[in-house]
Amino acid sequence: MLNGELGNSLLHSTFIIQHSSFNIHHSTFIIDSKMNCTKCKTKAVIGLPRHNAAFCKGCFNGFVHDQVARAIKSEKMFGKDDRILVAVSGGKDSLALWDILLKLGYRADALYVHLGIGAYSEQSHAKVLKFAEAAAASHRAKLHLHTVEQEAGAGIKELAQLIHRPTCSTCGTIKRYQFNRVAIEQHYDVMATGHNLDDEAARLLGNVLHWQEEYLDKQGPSLPASVEGFAKKVKPLYRLSERELAAYAVLNRIDYIVEECPMAKGSKMLQYKEVLNRLETESPGTKQTFYWGFLEKQRKKQPTATTMTEKDRAVLHPCASCSQPTTAEVCSYCKMMARAKTHAS
Ligand code: AMP
Ligand code: FES
Ligand code: ZN
Repeated sequence: MLNGELGNSLLHSTFIIQHSSFNIHHSTFIIDSKMNCTKCKTKAVIGLPRHNAAFCKGCFNGFVHDQVARAIKSEKMFGKDDRILVAVSGGKDSLALWDILLKLGYRADALYVHLGIGAYSEQSHAKVLKFAEAAAASHRAKLHLHTVEQEAGAGIKELAQLIHRPTCSTCGTIKRYQFNRVAIEQHYDVMATGHNLDDEAARLLGNVLHWQEEYLDKQGPSLPASVEGFAKKVKPLYRLSERELAAYAVLNRIDYIVEECPMAKGSKMLQYKEVLNRLETESPGTKQTFYWGFLEKQRKKQPTATTMTEKDRAVLHPCASCSQPTTAEVCSYCKMMARAKTHAS
């Protein structure tokens, strides 16, 4: 069902929106008008089993904003005077994040990285531009654009083929690099991504299954600007599920790209999400218990911002080519670009 159609139908009968990602029907929203809002007792539009609650549109928006405000406060992400750079992909999470931060009164601009993945990139770019126009008009928010093809001479797929690396890891390296570069060069205080509870729980499951302990330290929702040249990075949506964010986007008429990136087909992340969704259906609250429980343990155990900063300072130094912090002499982005040039010539 198209996003635009939903607003009207929401007010009427009970219906089900199938939000599919390839063959995985991972989010089924049941918006049941038979329930009443837990807070104001009017007709509810969404039930939240993990909170044993149901909300009308107004109270649901209040709930979402409150979860983000709690995340920002408890993880000391940023304050009202800070300038925030939101990485927006055109998907529901990052556009919802930009929307929520602006509505909460934060100074939030955005960055879109055009990856050059055919129709997928064109469509997501169009969604971002559409949202950015409205954000510029109502909040004077600005959109930055980085186009991979312009700098690298090829889109992500071709670039990955050229250097014989998997597309998704090439893409990850480029996105991380550009997010940090723009945040630092444009003097933003903090960089925010739209990772949600499902993303973080799936990533945690992957890290635990493979006992990648070194990654566990960096799985918190707020990473300090540990060395010069490194932007502070935060994930203000970690308390909200994918389903809740999709419902937020739909209810607030945020026009987002529903399709996942075609390169992600069959990825491990999607498999972990599917498994967690099955568990969640049987026992609501499983993802929250898993990820929040992990954060609680981490908080008690170690990496406080100071210990993480100390660790980073011991291993990071400026890249010999671009000056961004790296553990090697030349950072992985510069190595990749150098390889691409050699193979292209
Ligand atoms: P993903 O890795 O695709 O699940 O995306 C995680 C987060 O990274 C999103 O919520 C966005 O904040 C950000 N992001 C992903 N792709 C892009 C992009 N092409 N441009 C800007 N930000 C992006
Ligand atoms: Fe990076 Fe799909 S978003 S390869
Ligand atoms: Zn470099």
